[in-house]
Amino acid sequence: MTPQIKILHLDTNHPLLLEQLQQAGFTNDEDYTSGKEQIEAKIQNYHGIVIRSRFKIDKAFLDQATNLQFIARVGAGLESIDVEHAESRNITLIAAPEGNRNAVGEHTLAMLLALFNKTNTADAQIRQGHWHREGNRGHELDGKTVGIIGYGNMGKSFAKKLLGFDVKVLCYDILDNVGDANAQQVSLETLQQQSDVLSLHIPWTPETDKMVDTNFINAFSKPFWLLNTSRGKNVVTADLASALESGKILGAGLDVLEYEKSSFEHLFHDGDIPAAFQYLLQSDKVVLSPHIAGWTFESHQRLAQVIVDKIKAKYFGATGPEPVEKRVTGIGGFFFKSQNPTALKDWYGQHLGLNVDQWGCTFWWKDAQGNDCSTQWSPFADDTKYFDPSEKQFMQNFRVHDLDGLLDKLRAAGVTLVGTPEAYDYGKFAWILDPEGNKIELWEPIDSAFQ
Ligand SMILES: NC(=O)c1ccc[n+]([C@@H]2O[C@H](COP(=O)([O-])OP(=O)(O)OC[C@H]3O[C@@H](n4cnc5c(N)ncnc54)[C@H](O)[C@@H]3O)[C@@H](O)[C@H]2O)c1
Repeated sequence: MTPQIKILHLDTNHPLLLEQLQQAGFTNDEDYTSGKEQIEAKIQNYHGIVIRSRFKIDKAFLDQATNLQFIARVGAGLESIDVEHAESRNITLIAAPEGNRNAVGEHTLAMLLALFNKTNTADAQIRQGHWHREGNRGHELDGKTVGIIGYGNMGKSFAKKLLGFDVKVLCYDILDNVGDANAQQVSLETLQQQSDVLSLHIPWTPETDKMVDTNFINAFSKPFWLLNTSRGKNVVTADLASALESGKILGAGLDVLEYEKSSFEHLFHDGDIPAAFQYLLQSDKVVLSPHIAGWTFESHQRLAQVIVDKIKAKYFGATGPEPVEKRVTGIGGFFFKSQNPTALKDWYGQHLGLNVDQWGCTFWWKDAQGNDCSTQWSPFADDTKYFDPSEKQFMQNFRVHDLDGLLDKLRAAGVTLVGTPEAYDYGKFAWILDPEGNKIELWEPIDSAFQ
């Protein structure tokens, strides 16, 4: 049985996320606009949060979230969350690096090729009426050495994208034995000695904050190209600008900037542009993008799916809950008792335009797959025995996919069945009672029988 888990969604995501959590039986509330304090005031009502990067989940916030069981971040990293405090409170932390790692791998390669082939500058020049071939002579990757720092989800994805090029790929990581067939793990010194290209795929931590500064850059034996799709604050932009000017760094592909807000939605500065950033903006050795390496149509969907799967796995194990479509698929009919069904049908036909026949009225609609489906509206005579043993004035009818399979489960669960199942040219029927004695007709329909 699905537990009553209430989830607060703090950022918009692909619609499948809400749809599938709903289907799995979770209660979902959305609040995309309230400030952090307003959210803090109601967060004790929720068992789960789904967030991208709207605000920091810090200790003060977590202390208000007394019933929180999980935080799901629809993205790769968890740096906007006080991980230590959340874990001390036994709150499960869910991220979805599997959802955007392919996008990041492809985008990193796109930036590298744009730098090597000068596609951005050449394109801009032609638009201004210039046709410079010599000035846009490119470089080839063939024979170069690419160094990857941080060999996790994103680093591995980038290494995989390099497979078709004749390059040597090295990786450096604080964890041992993470190298694989696509990248040879080496010391930082070896990577700095051999690399022609450096790509950063590290999280933003106290150790990686401002990691790429003048000392770090000068430790490279050769001039090199820099790619950063991890976090802007991993690089000291002023030191990068100096290195670009001196030629120690040959070019830079930056998807992330030191000046971004922590929500990644805006640049930090308002007004004066820092000199180093000004340098990047006018440099033809730099390719910039606004934190979109992991931001594709495909990853939008995949991130949401990974989050749904991980939330379901937390509560239902790897197999997940039984999808609702395997049980009830919709309302099949509204049946109620009437003192004079014939007169009542005439009234509904005359005043509400119901297309009535001797049974009542059939409404037609289409399901999500575009199939024709029908729902029945029927007044029954007051003395009908059809609602027995329920004494209520109404009877519910639900549409189901697999009546026999459902009945097996209901019997096994001890649900009361009424009468014996029946089959007609318009479908199969069976009847059960809910705990309040309401009779429910279960209908595996053959809708076409009514057309
Ligand atoms: N630009 C984007 O759109 C985008 C999208 C997804 C991820 N990211 C960023 O990419 C980075 C990597 O994400 P991931 O999912 O691959 O993370 P991950 O945790 O899977 O991998 C990171 C790796 O870096 C290593 N590492 C940590 N500190 C290190 C250090 N000081 N020196 C060397 N290695 C170190 C870790 O051991 C780990 O193997 C993160 O900063 C993430 O936020 C950016």
